[in-house]
Amino acid sequence: MNNEFKIAVIGSGTMGNGIAHVSAQSGFKTLLIDIDENQLKKALEAIDINLDRQIKKKNISQDEKINTLNNLELTTDLKKCSDSDLVIEAVPEKYDLKVSIFKKLDKICDQKTIFASNTSSISISDLGNKTKRATKFIGMHFMNPVPIMKLVEVINTMHTSEQTTKKIIEISELMKKIPIQCNDYPGFVSNRILMPMINEAIFCLEQNVATKESIDGIMKLGMSHPMGPLQLADFIGLDVCLDIMEVLWNGFNDSKYRPCALLKSMVSSGLLGKKTGRGFYTYD
Ligand SMILES: NC(=O)c1ccc[n+]([C@@H]2O[C@H](COP(=O)([O-])OP(=O)(O)OC[C@H]3O[C@@H](n4cnc5c(N)ncnc54)[C@H](O)[C@@H]3O)[C@@H](O)[C@H]2O)c1
Repeated sequence: MNNEFKIAVIGSGTMGNGIAHVSAQSGFKTLLIDIDENQLKKALEAIDINLDRQIKKKNISQDEKINTLNNLELTTDLKKCSDSDLVIEAVPEKYDLKVSIFKKLDKICDQKTIFASNTSSISISDLGNKTKRATKFIGMHFMNPVPIMKLVEVINTMHTSEQTTKKIIEISELMKKIPIQCNDYPGFVSNRILMPMINEAIFCLEQNVATKESIDGIMKLGMSHPMGPLQLADFIGLDVCLDIMEVLWNGFNDSKYRPCALLKSMVSSGLLGKKTGRGFYTYD
């Protein structure tokens, strides 16, 4: 099926280039689309470096790298995805942007095309209902870094058809991922559990329960987490963590999801973690 099934990925940033990488590597003709030509250049460089890393680890051959790159086409022209079988959206986590892209795609794409969003927290049902193909709309939540992480959280809405879900499970498995299904609810499963844990770690720091090193050390050694929650927050981006906590807080109206004041003040001070060089820790 891989040869005939065409996949388009919209947005070539952190997640988009990873998704396009695994898609092309799995034999799918893959279109990587971005509004920014420069971003596409950077995405291709990142894919090239990541493929070389896989060769070095003896996970793939030079031929597989060539085949992967041959399956990839990069463009700024959204209309090129008109005959794609699946479009995976990975543009920034901004509700209005995602809605406007899906509305455009709904006009551009064939009726057969399945739409998937890689959103971390925006309601899949809401996005799907902005199109005329709610039965062919689903969440496909890849984890970062995509070529390495095995999970795809597959998010069904009340309208997603069984055929759509079946197809997405099949495609995820062909991408050598492990798809696990859940229903559309604020934060899905991953972020509903992960973000309150991170938020609670920030409360611990704010209330001087322990130092940041101790909080992270206790969670790493005691719970076998590969990274402590504060360091993980820095890697995810504190602004992203706050956005997701706001989605949980607004979605459930339950005080257990209130974002910690320290998280809010760090975000308003521009201390966003690794990407700004400073969050709970400092980075070069
Ligand atoms: N970064 C993560 O760890 C992570 C993990 C899981 C899910 N997500 C989700 O994935 C999505 C993308 O996140 P990211 O971290 O890759 O973002 P990013 O900022 O790295 O990349 C977004 C890309 O979208 C492009 N873009 C913006 N507007 C566009 C448009 N109109 N048309 C086409 N391309 C456009 C940008 O130029 C950029 O290259 C978000 O919804 C995010 O919540 C992120």
